[in-house]
Parts: sequence; C-alpha cells; structure tokens
Amino acid sequence: MDTLTGMKRTDYCGNFTTEQIGQEVTVYGWAQRQRDLGNLIFIDLRDRTGILQLSFNDATDREIFAKAQSVRSEYVLAATGTLQKRESVNKELKTGEIELAVTDLRVLSKAQTPPFEIANADKVGDETTLKYRYLHLRNERLTQNLLMRHKIAKIAREYFYGHDFVEIETPMLIKSTPEGARDYVVPSRVHKGKFYALPQSPQIYKQLCMIAGLDRYIQLARCFRDEDLRADRQPEFTQIDLEMSFVDCEDIMQMAEGFIQTLMAQTVGVDIAAPLPRMTYADAMARYGSDKPDTRFDMCIEDITDWAKGTDFVVFQNAIAAGGTVRCIVAKNAAAAYTRKKIDKLTEHARGIGAGGLAYVRWADETPTCSFNKFLKAGELDALLTRLGAEKGDCVFIISDKTSKALPILGALRLMVAKELDIIPKGKWNFLWITEMPFFEQDEETGEWIAMHHPFTAPMDEDLDKLETDKKNCRAKAYDIVLNGTELGGGSIRIHDPELQTKMFEALGFTEEKAKEQFGHLITAFSYGAPPHGGLAYGLDRLCMLLAGLDSIRDVIAFPKVQNASDLMMNCP
Ligand code: AMO
Repeated sequence: MDTLTGMKRTDYCGNFTTEQIGQEVTVYGWAQRQRDLGNLIFIDLRDRTGILQLSFNDATDREIFAKAQSVRSEYVLAATGTLQKRESVNKELKTGEIELAVTDLRVLSKAQTPPFEIANADKVGDETTLKYRYLHLRNERLTQNLLMRHKIAKIAREYFYGHDFVEIETPMLIKSTPEGARDYVVPSRVHKGKFYALPQSPQIYKQLCMIAGLDRYIQLARCFRDEDLRADRQPEFTQIDLEMSFVDCEDIMQMAEGFIQTLMAQTVGVDIAAPLPRMTYADAMARYGSDKPDTRFDMCIEDITDWAKGTDFVVFQNAIAAGGTVRCIVAKNAAAAYTRKKIDKLTEHARGIGAGGLAYVRWADETPTCSFNKFLKAGELDALLTRLGAEKGDCVFIISDKTSKALPILGALRLMVAKELDIIPKGKWNFLWITEMPFFEQDEETGEWIAMHHPFTAPMDEDLDKLETDKKNCRAKAYDIVLNGTELGGGSIRIHDPELQTKMFEALGFTEEKAKEQFGHLITAFSYGAPPHGGLAYGLDRLCMLLAGLDSIRDVIAFPKVQNASDLMMNCP
C-alpha cells in the first residue's frame, strides 16, 4: 500500500471550479467508479463534498495507468495532477466541467467489494444499509443530511450564544426526570441493586441552573426515552434545550422565533415573518383534530351535532345522548378518487384508530350517495350539504362519538385523505404556536390525571383555582411549536414557588412523601430564592428532518436505531 508522504490535500473534491484549470492540485477520496476505456481510464473520486473525475492516459505514464487499472470501488486514493477542461461535460456534477489529469496516484487502502453500490444505497433494504451504516453514510444524500445537521447545530449555538446564553453540560447519570416516557436505566456497580436513569431531558438540571443564577442556559442535549418508535421518534435524540430567567411566555416565544427566522434564512434561504401565527390548543383540536395541526391545507372539522340531532339516525342519536358529538370533514373533489372500495378502506382505518364506524356522503353523480340516507327525512341531506358548502365532486366523512375521540379520529382521517388526494402544497413552511395547553391529561387506562407537559409547568394565572376543582379545564403556561404538522418543540413557564410546586404535586396525586422522595431536591432548591423562569426545547433531529424535506429522522442521525430500538450495526442490545 502507498503512503501519503509528500502529498498534501489542496482542497476537497467538490470545491474545484473551472477557474482553477491549469493548476496542479492534490485530492483524497474514495473511488466511486472506475471506467476502463482501453487507453483511457476515468475514476470518480468522492469525498464528503462531492466528486472529481480523475483521468489517466496510458500514453502519459504507463506505471500510473497500470495502477489506475487496479483500482476497484471504494479504494482510498490520493491523486495529484493538473486540472483540465473535461471533454464531455457532466451537468449532474458540481465539478462536471473539469477533471484531474493525474500525474501521481497512491492507493492508500484497498476495499473488498461493498455489499451495495454507494451511489445506489437508497435502493437497498434497511437491514443491509443499517448494518453497514458507515458505507451508507458515504452516500451523498446522507452525507448532505449530516452536514445540514451540523449547520443547524452551529447556527443554534451562534444564535443563542449571541443572546447571552451559556452552554452548560448537564449529567447523563441521573435520577429520573419524567417527560412521559419510560427511563433507560444504568445499574450502579458501587451501589448494588441501584440504578441511574438516563435523562429523558435535562429539565430539572436546567431549572437548577436558573436557581444557580446562570440566567440563560443552552445545551445541545442528548435525551433518552424508552417509548415506541415512529418515523419522528428515536430512543435517543438531541434537543436544542434552553432556559431563561426573569421571563414570561412572550419573551421565550420571541427568542425561539428569532432562532427560527435566523435558521430558515441561513439554511433554506426563506424569510419567515414574526410573530409566528398562534392557535389555542382548544381551537387546534376543534378545527384540525390535532395538537400539531398541518395548516398547509384546510379541510377543517365541522360540528354538525345540531343538524344530526334532527335526523332519525340512531348511531348519531346514541352518540349525542351519551354526551358525544357529530363532526365531519368535507374533502373537496374527492368523490372520483374515493370509490366505494376506497371508502371501505378509509372506514377500516378509522376503526383501527378507535372509530365505531364512518358515515359518509359521496357526491360523484347528480345525486349524492349517503351511507345513512334511509334515516334521513326529505331535505335533510340537502340542508347538510348546503350548510357545509359541499358541491358535486366532494365527499363528506362523518364521525359520531365522544368529542375526545371524534376529533383526533377526524384529524387523522383529514391527514390521510389529504395525502391520498395529494393536496398538501409543497414548499410551504407553516410554523405555528399552540398555546393555552391543558395542564392535565387523563390516563385512559388508569383514569389518573397526569401532567400533559411536565409537573414543573406553571398553570395559567386565571386557572389557578381549577387545579383541584376542574382539572379538565385547567390550562398551562405551555406552548408547542409546530411546523407543517410536526411538533418541533415545546416548553413552558415553570413554577418557581415551592408552595405552588407542592400543591401541583398533590394535584397530580403524589403523596407528600413521594413528592419529596422524587423531587425533594427541586423543592428544596426553590426555597433558596428561585427566579421566575421558563424555557423550551426544540427537537434537533426533527428540525433537520423537516429542513431537509425528509419523512424519517433516521436519515439525519448518523447511527440510528431501528423500530425495535436495536442497533443493527453494533448488534446490540
Ligand atoms: P418535549 O418532551 O416536548 O419537552 O420535547 C421537546 C422536543 O423534543 C423532540 N422529541 C423527540 N425527538 C425525537 N425522538 C423522540 N423520542 C422525541 N421526543 C421528543 C420533539 C419535542 O417537541 N423538557 C421539555 C422542554 C421544556 O419544557 O423546556 C421537553 O423535553 O421535537
């Protein structure tokens, strides 16, 4: 094998331009492809910036030519030569007008035939690409994703440092910090039978930093949550985590918006107007059936309970009698796509997510088809369609159930139908704050009231009296930031009064003893002078995913886990 001695890189492969034609330069990289045309050989040399074509002519130097002949895919090379104009321009490449006529070639490392071609890695199954993740990462798309992630992290640090935030590392081996998931635990060697938890977030530590007087904290924090994985969830992920003292909701939201504006301008070159739109949680649920509404398209949920009351359809009547509701969405121009068969499929999907069934009106021809027509009196269907502004060509999908069930089901159907009809506009960046989040949510299985955000969040001043008496309607000083239907981040103003914090633990069903055992350190800290404070955490992985226009956060994480939380490359756990 050759050595690097005497060969210093001039620049990365993708950085050379036609202006450098005639210069002698040195490059390093991997052989993506070697083409042997008899008396000419071309090698696509790839590094993290792109590809530069190396060219070899047997008339120039037989020894180097022979070496080029021996090069196989993924060999690691160093090459020195003169940049020249290419005979056949490759418009696909940044460097497609130039090539390096090589005068010195070193083979620094040989490679066995890779399990897949790097350029085509995306067409290969996950089992293989994740097992050989380091090879998949050589693929331009994944490399670019990681470079984008690096850029976002850099912009975040610059922005928050510029606003007097101090970067503080908080510990990884900690006592459980609840964020609604299960903990990953680490057994202690010294304290037999005892465990540390890995942080679900640095929540308590960042609050303690405020009590310590550090005023503004930022960390690109690794978080660990043992929960079911989805396309936008990994068991370990990174937050852009911040906390500020002497602030209210407005201050934090403004700071967070400023970051979004800077980020969007510097990454995708888009100007985002501030303040960002806001919607209360109650409105988001009522109109979009989601606490993270995708506002790039309408198809909002309509309440037709009063109309349904007048009909003789027993399914509606039963739902209403049980205190429920009848709601619907109007899918414009959906009748052609939503044949009977497809509506059956949609119904099946609705059942799968908890619906008792799906009623519908499909207006494909002159007369609309209505799944519950025989229970309607003359004029009732017309009245509904007129009221909804439905026209020929449209479909109406109706769910009758408890409000807390009907809304999320319709929210999910809304998304599904929009994707199916391909009506979600591309190139839109709909940021949105969700405000006035409920303080509590009820655990479906146990009926217990738990904190929707976390137990350190402050209730809204006007809802303080509801802490004990009306948990359902008690709202928090909490906010989520949503982009195109994905929750990007969330935060809140925290309780800083030890009395209120104790009251909150009581309202959440903690006995005094349990609260002390679990959070005594925080309550004690509050008693030594805590400033009013609050903060927010962005999911860095989700931010990258959305900015890179991807559907899975796996593509922006160097070494991700698969669905069952295992690492196929390391073969663990
Ligand atoms: P929260 O739990 O809302 O808040 O998390 C903040 C953001 O982190 C991202 N996120 C995830 N990303 C990938 N995989 C996961 N499993 C995952 N879970 C969460 C989301 C989410 O919006 N301590 C609070 C913040 C605060 O109050 O300041 C917290 O962790 O983008």
